[in-house]
Formats: sequence, structure tokens, C-alpha cells
Amino acid sequence: MKFEWQGREITLTIKDPSLPPPYDLLELADPSRKMINAYLPMSSIYLAHHRDSLLGVLVIYPIDKEMAEIKNIAIKASEQGKGLGSQLLKSAIQISRERGLQKLRIGTANSSLGQLYLYQKMGFDLVEIIPNFFKDNYATAIFENGLEARHMLVLEQTLT
Ligand code: ACO
Repeated sequence: MKFEWQGREITLTIKDPSLPPPYDLLELADPSRKMINAYLPMSSIYLAHHRDSLLGVLVIYPIDKEMAEIKNIAIKASEQGKGLGSQLLKSAIQISRERGLQKLRIGTANSSLGQLYLYQKMGFDLVEIIPNFFKDNYATAIFENGLEARHMLVLEQTLT
């Protein structure tokens, strides 16, 4: 898949299984290498490149025949806030539609205020709260926006 972003051509391709995962990017979205390694093997890992530069990653995990979850989305720090994350979310929606899925999910922490704004802006709606998910599954406490990341908020959209 290709799209234009900031006048640059971005190619979104499935990661070559023989190459290592881009942990530097993946860990921007999820500080637990253990959690990442648990969901990667079942997932489709998409890499967003401009020419030879890796700018973003998108990980889509199949939940069942009808639904998938974006487990990880991350943009290289120097390129954040320029619309590429929104473009990757649009691509995830398009890919999921093309796979014939009915629903797409994404989860984030109660403290991830910017991400919660972005996901709702992109059409995802809050459907579930998993209490204490981060406290129970992460070895060290995570703080953002002056708040502790404790609960997982799950957002979902129906694909039409
Ligand atoms: N804080 C504040 N606002 C934000 C944030 C944030 N962390 N992220 C996005 N936004 C807002 C932007 O201000 C923008 O608002 P606007 O449309 O009103 O101008 C809107 O969301 C769209 O932003 P983009 O420029 O498309 O977002 P970006 O390219 O930065 O991608 C992403 C968003 C993926 C969250 C990126 O910032 C990133 O990699 N962050 C670090 C990793 C991360 O937090 N990943 C998500 C974790 S949850 C998960 O992976 C399932």
C-alpha cells in the first residue's frame, strides 16, 4: 500500500519475517518487551517507510473471524504530530475492511490523553475498561500527563 504524506511517498509493507522486529519503535507504544513478544507472533506487522527510512509501525492482531485489534502503533519521535499516525490508522481500517472484518479495536491507557483523542477522532468508541491492566501486567509504573497508567480503555469501530 502507498500513500502520500507531507509530499513524501510512504510505502506500507508487511515486515519480512526473517528481519528483527523494530523494537525501538514498538517500545514507544508499549514499554513491555514481554507483552510485545507475546502479541507479535500472531500479528501482522506493517512498516511505513519513506525510501529507506523507517518512520512508523502498525501491528494488527486477529481476535476472531470478525474482529482484529491494533496492538501497537508508533511513529518515529521526530515525525510525530505531523499526521502520519492518522494515516496509519486509516490504513489499518482499510486493511481490516479488505480482510472482511466487521470490527476493529484499539486499546490504550487511561493516562494516554492524546491517543484517546486521536482514536475517537478516527471513529473509535469506548466499549470496555479493563481495570488495573497496566498495574497487573507491567513491572514498573507508567506515568503520562501527570497520571498513572492503570486501566486499559478499549475502543472499537464497526467497519462498514
Ligand atoms: N498527545 C497529544 N496529542 C496527540 C498525541 C499525543 N501523544 N498523539 C496524537 N495527538 C493528536 C495530535 O495533536 C493531532 O491533533 P489534531 O488532528 O487536532 O492536529 C491528532 O492527534 C493526530 O495526530 P497525528 O499527527 O496523526 O499523530 P502522530 O503522527 O503523532 O501519531 C501516535 C500518533 C501513533 C500516538 C504517535 O504520536 C506515537 O507514536 N506516539 C508514541 C507511541 C504511542 O503512544 N503509541 C500509541 C500507544 S497505544 C497503541 O499502540 C495501541
